[in-house]
Amino acid sequence: MAREIKTVGVVGLGTMGAGIAEVFARHGRTVIGVERDGEMLAAGRQHVERSTAKAVQRGRLAEDERAVLIRRVTFTTDLAELHPCDLVVEAVPEWIDMKIDLFTRLDGIVDAGAILVTNTSSLSVSEIGAATKHPERVAGMHFFNPAPVLKLVEVVRGQATAPEVVDTVDALARDVRKVPVVCGDQAGFIANALLFGYLNQAATMVESGYATPEAIDAAMQNEYGYPMGPLALLDLIGLDTAVQILERMHSQSQRDRHAPAAILHDLVAEGRLGRKSGQGFYGESPQPGRPAAGEPAAAEIADALIRPYLDDAVRMRDIGYAPEGDIDTAMKLGCGLPKGPFEILAGR
Ligand code: CAA
Repeated sequence: MAREIKTVGVVGLGTMGAGIAEVFARHGRTVIGVERDGEMLAAGRQHVERSTAKAVQRGRLAEDERAVLIRRVTFTTDLAELHPCDLVVEAVPEWIDMKIDLFTRLDGIVDAGAILVTNTSSLSVSEIGAATKHPERVAGMHFFNPAPVLKLVEVVRGQATAPEVVDTVDALARDVRKVPVVCGDQAGFIANALLFGYLNQAATMVESGYATPEAIDAAMQNEYGYPMGPLALLDLIGLDTAVQILERMHSQSQRDRHAPAAILHDLVAEGRLGRKSGQGFYGESPQPGRPAAGEPAAAEIADALIRPYLDDAVRMRDIGYAPEGDIDTAMKLGCGLPKGPFEILAGR
């Protein structure tokens, strides 16, 4: 039986946390947002204000609804203020020690009946849970960037997560108008496990001089109707984050496809982290990886990228990690794709 969740805590108000706070506040929850210091808290608040202003501008939200939404969020730097929460979402940077430290502190702050979820993309939910006194109340609740826009939530069942906790998180996701898929605790879950092999391959194509970021991105947008090409998406995710996710996937899968491309490491070392630093694959010169001459046709580029991705989807289904329908849902609603891999394979 799912429990009722009225008050939600969000720890970490970066792009993901602020977006998640917006989602819950938009759907009637009282939200308590926590950041480490006043400066980061102000940035989190500004993020919610800007994002909701954009939603109003685009006709997605009425001005008075926006005011109500913003009033539902309390901003604080004091973790102890989370004590009335029915559920706390952790959205701090992807460092296991930081997450474990936070979860053990939350253990002593919230009531015994409260649920603790992590928005991790690639760390082990079971490992985070195991560090707490009550691993049965710890689960994954993985949103996609931008959280107010993308519909998918991966609800991750850790080894010790209680079925009732999974049901509650699943019901909560539906209640805030998201589409949940429940999955096991494997690095990258469903969507990132498929997405990051493809993103990494696109980075390798730039590195080898096969094609420019512009040509690769245009190929995926024009040939498959993707909302963003892979290099622009890497810039949105952040190249440092992408390297971390790939490294974790690689250490679990041991597949070359998941070993971060050298160009990702190089760009990160140069401080080109993508949108958050102003430059990544895109930005001011120097642009990485210009092909010397002659670029392959768009259809050829798209085909080279899509085939291994489709193979990965088939492999994921065949090992029994997720059914076809959930894989298609995850890719469409988590990455805004017009078709899921099995729909492409079936020619639908
Ligand atoms: N609330 C509600 N709706 C909002 C909103 C908000 N705060 N802000 C924007 N929107 C709506 C807009 O109204 C717009 O809707 P319409 O087109 O129907 O008017 C829509 O969202 C898109 O908004 P924008 O105009 O701002 O942007 P866009 O059209 O350029 O699309 C994008 C941008 C949504 C990012 C799109 O390019 C996209 O879907 N890209 C793919 C993103 C993706 O793959 N993300 C997954 C990253 S991986 C990840 O997140 C996992 C991880 O762990 C790293």
